[in-house]
Amino acid sequence: MKIPGDIKILGIFGDPIEHTLSPSIQNAAFNALSLNMVYLPFNVKNENLKEAVASIKALNMLGVNVTIPHKEAVMEFLDKVDEDAEKIGAVNTIVNRGGVLTGYNTDGEGYIESLTQETAFEVSNKNILMLGAGGAARGILYALLKRNPSKITIANRTIERAENLKAEFSKFFPEATINITGTNKIESIETFDLIINTTSSGMSGTEETKLIVEPKNFKKDAVVSEIIYKPMETPLLIEAEKNGLRLHKGLGMLIHQGALGFKLWTGKDAPVEAMRSAALVSLEAR
Ligand SMILES: NC(=O)c1ccc[n+]([C@@H]2O[C@H](COP(=O)([O-])OP(=O)(O)OC[C@H]3O[C@@H](n4cnc5c(N)ncnc54)[C@H](OP(=O)(O)O)[C@@H]3O)[C@@H](O)[C@H]2O)c1
Repeated sequence: MKIPGDIKILGIFGDPIEHTLSPSIQNAAFNALSLNMVYLPFNVKNENLKEAVASIKALNMLGVNVTIPHKEAVMEFLDKVDEDAEKIGAVNTIVNRGGVLTGYNTDGEGYIESLTQETAFEVSNKNILMLGAGGAARGILYALLKRNPSKITIANRTIERAENLKAEFSKFFPEATINITGTNKIESIETFDLIINTTSSGMSGTEETKLIVEPKNFKKDAVVSEIIYKPMETPLLIEAEKNGLRLHKGLGMLIHQGALGFKLWTGKDAPVEAMRSAALVSLEAR
């Protein structure tokens, strides 16, 4: 590997970090466009987060991604936070512009970009069911609400968490219709145009659980959207495919949140297909 003396350094801060696909995705993008940049994983413990953020300036890094568990905590150490990231309450991308660190959140917009490109689904005026109210749900909900769906139902196992999310986001979108329900009490399942799973139910390594919703009861032209990418074919997607429904898989969100970060750091459009191929190779190697 050739490392020129003037190479620009980027990376990702998280804990744990060994399984991240982001270095494969970003380095593939730098290679595809022959950019003099390298992207590295950094295991950052909670107690070292402040120093790690300061090191972005000290080491003249171009920027970093931030992942679990630092997306919220990192905000207080930044010079500026983009308005949307502030409202979402989480940052996944930091850009260093001449020693000024600005935080962004590209998760929700990355999700929408992937949904649009892969299924052509338009959120405006649609009736949407979002399963889950955890960290990933926040950016997705925010990006959906910006596009004026007719209604969003948030179904979560712990109903208080969904209620809190509604209360927080209703302040920013007072016109929006947001319903809350438990995952075991979802009604009128046949009326939703888009069903998104943002829970970790179905993820590799989690217990085999019953499907939260049954695709056989969905509207025939509904899109079934998953944000889990390991496995690529989750039980929900497998069942949805058997029922002839339109599918949106989870890897696209990961690629497109990275593509938006790439654009913020480099000012260039990301080579999305090179990034996707690199992610697939890394996933298959596991
Ligand atoms: N594609 C991407 O780029 C991307 C990005 C971020 C995350 N993800 C994936 O998204 C998933 C969620 O991540 P997160 O950061 O939001 O996690 P999180 O903050 O821990 O939230 C987990 C959510 O899943 C629910 N849940 C967990 N197990 C469940 C079960 N057995 N039945 C029903 N609900 C269950 C939780 O409900 P309670 O509130 O009741 O606990 C909560 O709503 C993970 O699989 C992660 O890998 C993908």
